[in-house]
Amino acid sequence: MQSYRAAKDVLRKYDQEHVLAFFEELSSQDQNTLLEQISQIDFEQLDRVIRSQVFSTQGFALPANLQPAAMLPAQPKDEETLRLYQQAKAKGQELIAQGKVAAMVVAGGDGTRLGFAGPKGCLPVTPLKRKPLFAVFAEQVLAASARYGASVPWYVMTSPTNDAATREYFAQKKFFGLEERDVFFFVQGQAPTLSREGKMLLADKNMIATNPDGHGGSLTALRRSGALEDMARRGCEIISYFQVDNPLVHCLDPLFIGLHALKGAEMSAKALPKREPMEKLGNFCLVEGKVHVIEYSDLPEEMARATRPDGKLLFSAGSIAIHTFSRSFVERLTEGGACKLPFHRAIKKVAHVGPTGAKVQPDQPNALKFEMFVFDALPLANNVVILETQRSEEFSPVKNATGDDSIATCLHDQIRRAARWLSSAKVNVPRDADGRPAAAIEISPLYALDEEQLAQKLPKDFAIKAGQEVFLG
Ligand code: UD1
Repeated sequence: MQSYRAAKDVLRKYDQEHVLAFFEELSSQDQNTLLEQISQIDFEQLDRVIRSQVFSTQGFALPANLQPAAMLPAQPKDEETLRLYQQAKAKGQELIAQGKVAAMVVAGGDGTRLGFAGPKGCLPVTPLKRKPLFAVFAEQVLAASARYGASVPWYVMTSPTNDAATREYFAQKKFFGLEERDVFFFVQGQAPTLSREGKMLLADKNMIATNPDGHGGSLTALRRSGALEDMARRGCEIISYFQVDNPLVHCLDPLFIGLHALKGAEMSAKALPKREPMEKLGNFCLVEGKVHVIEYSDLPEEMARATRPDGKLLFSAGSIAIHTFSRSFVERLTEGGACKLPFHRAIKKVAHVGPTGAKVQPDQPNALKFEMFVFDALPLANNVVILETQRSEEFSPVKNATGDDSIATCLHDQIRRAARWLSSAKVNVPRDADGRPAAAIEISPLYALDEEQLAQKLPKDFAIKAGQEVFLG
């Protein structure tokens, strides 16, 4: 614990002494809470952020010479690529079987946009059994462990607000059949929330206002929590990273993992051709030979709409936040504890304690929140593989209560994928006049992880009738 004197000195050095304004009024317990919080803050880093992002009014600077980044195709188009994919898939399977691969989900966000109370991973999402997002991922990890005969540890990033609820939920659900020792929860970091003048805000007299430091903070959180050491102890070399909102994700894709390994990549990413120019996906770009993701809100509209001679979008590759990391890369990026990723600034309305001690409820955005984005690690990686995937196979996030990327579109997409897997296994799937499956179908990852496994497992006489509910589990 830091002493009052030490706290005062460091705060004076960085011109933030005002956070001690009410110190004398606090109980000794509350004083300790505040001193403890101050001792956790990386003031050097905060100072850099204030200089570059508060006092400089420039905001995001679009890099010059932005080029589209190339992606490997979802389906091999020539013999050479076909051979590469076959080798990569075998390599990925071998790495999983050797216990060298870990799964990781970032689940620090809450379902605010969805209006769902509680950790977003608890949201019921499957069409028939209403299994939550966490169960969908856990069953994939379990099924992959069984398929490849090796334990696959799963690292689950929570936030201070949903950590206890997430742990309780896993305990209540008996870890969805996983071994408790193979699930490692770790809490994401927080960054101080600042006034527009670069002063830390007080959420309470004994508490500095903070906000989650973004999914980019997951890299430092992996180190701080001991998760990286845990991976090293288990011999895990590759981390398969995904977001909590997308139940179609293949949590452990041998092809993707194998390509990452064979190409000697430090970080890799899956991409989708964007549905339309302004789709809210980060854009894969090349800047001086390095891969960058430029957020949809940062790419000027004329660039987002620019086309190639064949009429296709120039910046077509969209980021769906599915990555692989080499553990050694994360170790390098987080050496010494601080992360080498830049901070992004957002201006928000934040209630706080004002200089008189009274609560201030702003009616205009008054505060700066800073967070890191995990894709900003891409330009720091020595080699990057970008693999195209198919939207219908792997991407249908639940982000909104209604409309695009909602639970309704996600349910539909899960059924459509299940129907496609069945059709390719030669099952006659009844369809309506518009070609949509006319049955509700759910395939548990415990039954089949992909269409290949489904085709091997299905009984020969398997048939579906229109209007039927079909659960394969
Ligand atoms: C994100 C990506 C976008 C990508 C899209 C794909 C950003 C800035 N943008 O958009 O490029 O195309 O997903 O679906 O990320 N999370 C934490 N802690 C945090 C913040 C987020 O764990 O501090 C987790 C959330 O739980 C979620 C994920 O990160 O799993 C994405 O966060 P969200 O804010 O929903 O990102 P989007 O704006 O949807």
